[in-house]
Amino acid sequence: MFGSAISRWTMHHFAIALGFFLLAQAAMAAGVTFPVTGLLAPTTLATVHLLTIGWLTILMFGALQQFVPVITAGGPAADKSALASLIGIVMGLVFMEAGFLALDGQLAQGAIVSLPFGGAVVLTGALIGVIALTRILWQTRPLTFSAQFIAAGLVFLLLTVTLGLVFGLVFAAPELVPWGDALGDGFRLHLLAGLGGWFTLTAIGVSYRLLSMFTLAPEERGWFGTAVIGLTVGGLAVTWFLELMVSLGVPIPAPAITVAVVATGLGLVFYLADMVRLYRARQRHQLELNTGMATAALVAFAVALGLAAYAALSGYGEPIVGAAGYLFLFGWLSGLGLSQLYKIVPFLTWLERYGSILGKRPVPRVQDLVDERRDRPWFILYFGAVAIGTLAILIGWPTVWRLAVFGHLVATVMVVRALWLARYGTPRPPHRVEPPSVPVMIVPPAQIHLNAGSNVR
Ligand code: HEM
Repeated sequence: MFGSAISRWTMHHFAIALGFFLLAQAAMAAGVTFPVTGLLAPTTLATVHLLTIGWLTILMFGALQQFVPVITAGGPAADKSALASLIGIVMGLVFMEAGFLALDGQLAQGAIVSLPFGGAVVLTGALIGVIALTRILWQTRPLTFSAQFIAAGLVFLLLTVTLGLVFGLVFAAPELVPWGDALGDGFRLHLLAGLGGWFTLTAIGVSYRLLSMFTLAPEERGWFGTAVIGLTVGGLAVTWFLELMVSLGVPIPAPAITVAVVATGLGLVFYLADMVRLYRARQRHQLELNTGMATAALVAFAVALGLAAYAALSGYGEPIVGAAGYLFLFGWLSGLGLSQLYKIVPFLTWLERYGSILGKRPVPRVQDLVDERRDRPWFILYFGAVAIGTLAILIGWPTVWRLAVFGHLVATVMVVRALWLARYGTPRPPHRVEPPSVPVMIVPPAQIHLNAGSNVR
């Protein structure tokens, strides 16, 4: 049955993640975050975690619950543990938000304790999810190319959340972590593990799999792929470890860190070059909206990397780092997530609705559940607004930035509406059954009856 191949809680993850994404953008448009306030103001931190935990982490967990069994051709998707993990992460985040608001003085000082408490609950939720995914990955050793990035990403997730919990304790109960000061510069470790390790490595792994499937390009990446995985995963792991040593006061020669950082950067450049190769080698010449818009996310990633490199080399501070961070979170990660949801949500809906009757009577195609002509302008508005927002941070125009954020908030609302209509609206009239073509497999291959003809385009 198709139903058994679909992770039961993936759609719930997606719906909750999108809710947090809208909330975070509303907070930014309301002007309670950087660049209107400071980069480390409690309200900025509260919003950053709505984005990083509420939106991106929950989105990625939802996607991984569905894809890990497929990528590894392994066992069925986790069920109860996926729900337990979701509940833990959401509840923990709510407590964390209360803690950040207490730091800002908007709640009683005593509520600061909910920052580490929430962190511990998030850690529990993440741990449940990681264990379930690791079990599937472990059963299917040796790991496939995409799965190797995902496994590394999961390790970095646990490091990120554990470090976050330590920071929460430093704020709320420093006496409990007398060694907290030793981590002095540990903030960088939190960012490196979260943004570089968990988000970027996972996004690279999932994008390799999804974009090669959706564009019908070869998934085998040859020596290029080996270079990407060696340099990004190896480079990040070494950089993180050396930074940890520095934080703990171990003397590490600066050139060693520079070499590790440059290797990681080179790996990311190789990844972007490999994406160009992948798109060039595709067999599906007419790009669908999701794969077309993924190119905008990849361009945003390239520009964000350029800005970060410039900031590091020039020593220029907040505006460039802030612009790079904003573009990284909204252009690359959120842009990639939003554009791929535009394919994944209709596809899973289509499988749930028509999987069991496929081949027995005419059914719509996946693409009949969406209307690309109607939705294309909203994606263009989304990426256009993010570009303007990035420039506004660089130039120092907070009002223009807030207008730009409002622009991508509106665009997100309209994409959410499109996803809602794909799931609950009426598809275009049934389509005749087409001759078989290569199916887009985001459920295990054995679950798709090829001889029924493929309507999945
Ligand atoms: C996926 C998980 C996480 C990610 C990706 C993440 C990401 C971030 C980012 C990007 C910042 C910098 C914000 C800014 O510059 O405005 C930050 C700061 C911070 N995070 Fe997290 N975070 C995560 C989980 C957590 C958890 C579970 C806690 C626990 C309470 C936490 C506590 C903190 C604290 C206290 C700061 C401020 C540190 C300081 O000012 O020294 N984070 N985090």
